[in-house]
Amino acid sequence: MKKGLFVTFEGADGCGKTTQLKKLEEFLKEKGYDVVTTREPGALDIGQKIRNILLHHNGIVADRCEMFLFLADRAQHVETFIKPAIEQGKIVLCDRHVDSTIAYQGYGRGQDIELLKSLNDIAVNGLVPNVTLLYDVTTETAQQRVGDEKDRMEAAGLTFHKQVRQGYLNLQKENPERIKLINANNSIETVFEDTKKVIINLLQEN
Ligand code: TMP
Repeated sequence: MKKGLFVTFEGADGCGKTTQLKKLEEFLKEKGYDVVTTREPGALDIGQKIRNILLHHNGIVADRCEMFLFLADRAQHVETFIKPAIEQGKIVLCDRHVDSTIAYQGYGRGQDIELLKSLNDIAVNGLVPNVTLLYDVTTETAQQRVGDEKDRMEAAGLTFHKQVRQGYLNLQKENPERIKLINANNSIETVFEDTKKVIINLLQEN
């Protein structure tokens, strides 16, 4: 049986990755591929509860608590959803994954990056994305796109979000084979052309 593919979508809040993910899902389904979409945090039942705490808890959430919650969500998601779907030969399009933790909890919150990489390894238990699309946009544009109604993470401030962006760019330089940089300042259609190019290459290789 043909093994599936695992594609992750990364970038700042407001970068437009979710729009691209949906467009790509439609495009691939039209071409007859077996595609499923999912997200972190909060794809499944336990994840929904974790997402609610992470994005909407009103009181203090300690940085390490936040870190473990994202990782707990990921461990559950990988084991019960992503790996089985890939084994069934599906193309899994996932909105955020391991790189979000390095960018947000590492570069944003200042948690130890090497430690986070080890914890990510435990959470994913050997799973690595075939490709990661990184949608890069200036922090000012991203914040404008998010608007005034911000969740707990979106409300973390401009400095935090600039560090997150820089974190992502560093990750891309460290992993140029896996992480493909896409200029998300462009129009939705131009960004989608760039998205398709990466995915068509991936499909040809597999
Ligand atoms: P979303 O709005 O793209 O669904 O993402 C939820 C928020 O959670 C977003 O602000 C990024 C953040 N996040 C982390 O801080 N660490 C993580 O590991 C993940 C997956 C998301």
